[in-house]
Amino acid sequence: MSEICKCAMAEAEVLKKDGIDTDLLEPTLKEYSAVKGSLITILQHAQDIYGYLPVELLNYIALRTGIKAAKVLGVATFYAQFRLEPIGKYLIMVCQGTACHVNGSEAVQQALEEELGIRDGQTTSDGLFSIKSVACLGCCSLSPVMMINGEAYGTLTPDKARGIIADIRAKEAQNK
Ligand code: FES
Repeated sequence: MSEICKCAMAEAEVLKKDGIDTDLLEPTLKEYSAVKGSLITILQHAQDIYGYLPVELLNYIALRTGIKAAKVLGVATFYAQFRLEPIGKYLIMVCQGTACHVNGSEAVQQALEEELGIRDGQTTSDGLFSIKSVACLGCCSLSPVMMINGEAYGTLTPDKARGIIADIRAKEAQNK
């Protein structure tokens, strides 16, 4: 069921207004929409392209694949790898694994949340930062640790974590 029905076309128009070009997903839909059991693959490709999976896009995928919208939404919300909200330019992953926890990661996370004015899993309104607590990041000797866009910052204290955010903000302000 890969031909585009009127409902899917209407959904594509809505998505376009939000800056989501469904044409980019076309090769994936052509390859997988008729292949049984490939919903997760389609969702992974879509997230790679758009960075997240807005509900309208899930609906579009449902219309294009013939899979019930409730099932597409169910799969997208069940697996932690899928994001239904856009993430910030800087994704801060704060480790809450055992070693980090013992060494004060909770206080670090709290300081970051206060500094950014958001809670775990949220994104700042300027779209700059998202924060997410995660399990072991694999560098326990540096605990407590956070990772920002793949770069690890270790032996954190609440003040050190705030300072790192301040540095990023300063760099962003310079680049404006
Ligand atoms: S427990 Fe935090 S990096 Fe391993």
